[in-house]
Amino acid sequence: MNQLISEKADNLTGRIKVPGDKSISHRALIMATMAIGQSRISGLLEGEDVLNTARAMTAMGADISKAENGDWLVHGVGIGGLCQPDMPLDMGNSGTGARLIMGLVSTYPHETSFIGDGSLSSRPMRRVTNPLEKFGAEFHGARGMTLPLTVSGIMDPLPIEYEVPVASAQVKSAILLAALNTPGKTTVIEPVPTRNHTERMFKHFGVDIEINGTAITVTGHPELGPRDMLVPSDPSSAAFPVIAALITPGSDITIENVGMNPSRTGIYTTLREMGADITFVNERLECGESVADIRVRYSTLKGITVPQSRAPSMIDEYPVLCIAASFASGETVMGGLGELRVKESDRIAVMVKGLQACGVTVLEYDDGMTVTGATTIPGGATVKTHLDHRIAMSFLILGLRADNSVTVDDGTVIETSFPGFQRIMNGLGANIGGKSL
Ligand code: S3P
Repeated sequence: MNQLISEKADNLTGRIKVPGDKSISHRALIMATMAIGQSRISGLLEGEDVLNTARAMTAMGADISKAENGDWLVHGVGIGGLCQPDMPLDMGNSGTGARLIMGLVSTYPHETSFIGDGSLSSRPMRRVTNPLEKFGAEFHGARGMTLPLTVSGIMDPLPIEYEVPVASAQVKSAILLAALNTPGKTTVIEPVPTRNHTERMFKHFGVDIEINGTAITVTGHPELGPRDMLVPSDPSSAAFPVIAALITPGSDITIENVGMNPSRTGIYTTLREMGADITFVNERLECGESVADIRVRYSTLKGITVPQSRAPSMIDEYPVLCIAASFASGETVMGGLGELRVKESDRIAVMVKGLQACGVTVLEYDDGMTVTGATTIPGGATVKTHLDHRIAMSFLILGLRADNSVTVDDGTVIETSFPGFQRIMNGLGANIGGKSL
């Protein structure tokens, strides 16, 4: 374990890049494996979650290497071409990697086992195994369908029509990936739209995909050729320096080349409603995804009620939004967030506990929390991260503005999504230091 300590900072200034989008990076590696020939990926997130997906694709036959210029080259095997892995696939901390790849392998006549860390091993998998069973696959998981879990895939899968009961891009994507090696048309219907990177990537690779409102239909067994892909910087990772700048007086920073897919930008809409000075500069389209540079200046924030309908477009940003809310005037009400309890940690319980330890007034309820802001926050606590990268980064951002330093018990988890976090933040003027335990 590696404790990290964040101390009060003066203004944050400068231009930075944050690492590549985690969701797009997983999908880029998987879809390049589904193509025959060599795809090139620029800007891939080299975080642990994505590297585990790369290892899983390699174990099933892809040839993946890094070119001298930093691009990743993936020699794919094509749909139907995966081989059965010799060893369990270790997905580490990654729910996205585990669930997407479970979908992918469920329509192959293979036995594929999945293992992960303590966090991933406690996350619910029935949400993906239920629809995947309808293709004909079978699943054997620990305690009520958690990892370690083995998929007995099906040789002759049947196409399905499935209404997803939870708002989950991971469930939707698992079904769409299972549909690739299934003859005929598979339809998945979402309760509300969630991030649509899989659909966009399918289009980029030439998969026959129709979208009618919240119904998505894919025709199986396409033959896919290789593609070049450019992964934009992750808007979820960008949210950490954005909120750091918003709460630190005198700050003015720019984050380059951030993904602006509307299914991901709810946090920016919310922060603007709170009074944040955020401008999008040089908006453009790159490989089917919109990107922009984000300029952020210190702002006086006010609390709002975040519309529940916005949750899918900012589901990963509530922990760090709580930090912005801690310095906003009045109450910030965040509801409709039952899903936060089954992320890398129970993010409602863990945030509430950590905020209270730092002297923030916060109220917890089943599906959300209300944070009451203040002009000064005592800080001075050591917060348990529970193997959750976003909890670790959120409390390090709080430490930049709290009266006393804030410590997180384990900073190593940040590697899953934001390698270089400490260096990049300190380059802006933050004061985040480390201590090994
Ligand atoms: C993701 C979807 C979201 C999100 C996760 C990444 C994806 O999870 O929280 O970090 O890449 O599909 P759910 O789909 O379970 O909400």
